[in-house]
Amino acid sequence: MTYRITLVPGDGIGPEVAEAAQRVVEATGLQVEWERHLAGQTALDELGTPLPPATLEAIRSSHATLKGPTATPSGTGFRSVNVELRQKLHLFANYRPARSLPGVPSRYDQVDLIVVRENTEGLYSGLEHEVVPGVVESLRVVTEQASQRIARFAFETARQQGRKRVTCVHKANILKLSDGLFLRTCRKVAEGFPEIAFDDCIIDATAMKLVINPHAFDVMVMENLFGDIVSDLTAGLVGGLGLAPSANVGEGIAVFEAVHGSAPDIAGKGIANPTALMLSAVLMLRYLGEREAADRLENAIRKVFSESKIRTGDLGGRATTREFTEAVLAKLASG
Ligand code: NAI
Repeated sequence: MTYRITLVPGDGIGPEVAEAAQRVVEATGLQVEWERHLAGQTALDELGTPLPPATLEAIRSSHATLKGPTATPSGTGFRSVNVELRQKLHLFANYRPARSLPGVPSRYDQVDLIVVRENTEGLYSGLEHEVVPGVVESLRVVTEQASQRIARFAFETARQQGRKRVTCVHKANILKLSDGLFLRTCRKVAEGFPEIAFDDCIIDATAMKLVINPHAFDVMVMENLFGDIVSDLTAGLVGGLGLAPSANVGEGIAVFEAVHGSAPDIAGKGIANPTALMLSAVLMLRYLGEREAADRLENAIRKVFSESKIRTGDLGGRATTREFTEAVLAKLASG
């Protein structure tokens, strides 16, 4: 079968890591028809809009999308393309695994946990207004429907992967109505998954526990902003942003991208670490049902870390994006 994959190179280091990920996917032997579309600052510069309708349509109609990071100006300018994409295409679940890689020095070994982040509401609802000059309100929206959907996704993920426990992360002691609803809904969904243990933990305590003992967690489910922050923390626990993949999943639509941003400080230098987007491509292959290709690519990436000293600058090495990519291709070729 030939897959139609939308490739969004994105901004900054996006095109560099997207090319690397595209090359390794092709090397698995998967038949792919790539459709390139712009988004972000690059799209604004070239097409006059950060999220062209053609890009949205391609993402909607292709089998899956591999996306490089897109830049968003802070405090001013256009709305985040990512938030827009997640809301317009109802990509309600953000799946962010954090797994230690052999040969990558980090605080802990054998970390293997999953952050499931609600992707469409919370403080990212985009509902901000100025009440009077000098006073601004942001609405943190929590609905039962979205809470139920994300809780189900977390439990189904746990079930599929044979995981033992789901932890709901919240601040229901203070945000009694909104996070109270989120926690109650998670509890109710848990009843349908009796083989999976369920517990909950307050966000601040979660941050401390993660740093002291990340092995205490398995699958974690939380609202949007908590998920954003906690998944950067868990990325840090396994070696940094250059290694952290993610999937944005909706009904029949999925966008795979790294957790990291466009890294303007190193863009255009050819030194970005492509691992995070390559691992996102592994998630994409699994989503497409191409388990064998996914395993081969993941093993090739892990072997570069365990059997060689080839590392990009963020991990203390001197390899370029291209050299790292060649190393993965060589491992793929040698089986
Ligand atoms: P960032 O993730 O781009 O960079 C943070 C630090 O990590 C920088 O020092 C950068 O050089 C380093 N880094 C990130 N990825 C790396 C990689 N693959 N290899 C080596 N080093 C890497 O975060 P920042 O600077 O806060 O955001 C830059 C832009 O990216 C902003 O416009 C932001 O809105 C956007 N962004 C986009 C995301 C997306 O499209 N999914 C996610 C996060 C941020």
